[in-house]
Amino acid sequence: MNKLDHQLNTLEKEVKTKKPGLLSHVPKPREGGYDPVVEFKNVQIGYKRGNVERVIVRDLNLDIIRGEIFGLVGESGSGKTTVGRALIRVVPISKGEVLYNGVRISGKISRALSRELKQKMQMIFQDPSASLNDRANVDYIVSEGLRAFHMYKNEEDRLETVEEMMRRVGLRPEHLKRYPHEFSGGQRQRIGIARSMIIRPEFIVADEPISALDVSIRAQVLNLIKEFQKELNMTVLFIAHDLSVVKYISDRIGVIYNGNIVELTSAERLFEMPLHPYTKSLLSAVPIPDPRVESKKKIVVYHPQMHQYTSDDMPALYEIEPGHFVRANQKELKEYKEVIKKAQGGKA
Ligand SMILES: Nc1ncnc2c1ncn2[C@@H]1O[C@H](COP(=O)(O)OP(=O)(O)O)[C@@H](O)[C@H]1O
Ligand SMILES: [Mg+2]
Repeated sequence: MNKLDHQLNTLEKEVKTKKPGLLSHVPKPREGGYDPVVEFKNVQIGYKRGNVERVIVRDLNLDIIRGEIFGLVGESGSGKTTVGRALIRVVPISKGEVLYNGVRISGKISRALSRELKQKMQMIFQDPSASLNDRANVDYIVSEGLRAFHMYKNEEDRLETVEEMMRRVGLRPEHLKRYPHEFSGGQRQRIGIARSMIIRPEFIVADEPISALDVSIRAQVLNLIKEFQKELNMTVLFIAHDLSVVKYISDRIGVIYNGNIVELTSAERLFEMPLHPYTKSLLSAVPIPDPRVESKKKIVVYHPQMHQYTSDDMPALYEIEPGHFVRANQKELKEYKEVIKKAQGGKA
């Protein structure tokens, strides 16, 4: 057999044995290397009571880029969990579409695609007590994904994988025989993380994963998530209600108010050049480590009426500088542009 024949033969074999999943074909990055994993396109999400829909999130346009930690921040009730649940298809969307690796995953999808998504996307919940089945022991809980997706050769292999994961999240293999209620909140969250990470997802929705935990252990759990993200090269949608948490962990941050993204840019830029008054109010609530400065700090309160939007000048999300989006009407857009111009002039 000549070399080319051999190559073709191997190639054919590869194609036959590989059985690519619907989403495992990662599309080539688009122009300029732009590579979104998740795309929300004009998405509306609401909850139906009878035939009446209460709209929670309007016209959401958001890309989450491969490998990033995207922080979604806003006060309680702003629709953050709703966005996360729509992404993992627990809540249906009522308008627009959601893409994953360029494939539509909203609306009706095939069973094969749905199954694949369950492996690729995992969720870490706010309340680990509520999300862990208390009648199952830790071994069972952490192994669930391995079983569902046949990700082990034999019992010995499974146990080894599970024990390794326990150590990895700072728990001991002996803990496997115990039940969730025997653990502290922080330990339960570690179990939740182990359960999600063991199937090596591509994408994580972490919905306020440290909000219910003791302040003293928050940083550890945050670090754990960050470590996994790096190691598995995951993309993360990290939901939080205050900026101090996401500042530390996020590459980019989107600020959401009443179901609308009001500002979106890199974590660094958001702190350096916040434009929207709601972002400023969230920033004013971030604790400052210096107690003297902290005691003099003023909390800025956001009043949505302050915009005085009129029907002939309604707000939309605009890219005001590269990668920095703000919700504004034409009048505000002018003002924000002035602010940026001034700051640049000051620097020169
Ligand atoms: N299952 C549901 N049925 C009806 N309304 C809901 C449901 N879940 C959330 N909501 C409403 O949607 C709004 C946004 O909630 P949520 O997405 O949980 O906000 P957040 O996570 O930012 O606190 C709230 O007003 C909430 O009452
Ligand atoms: Mg929530």
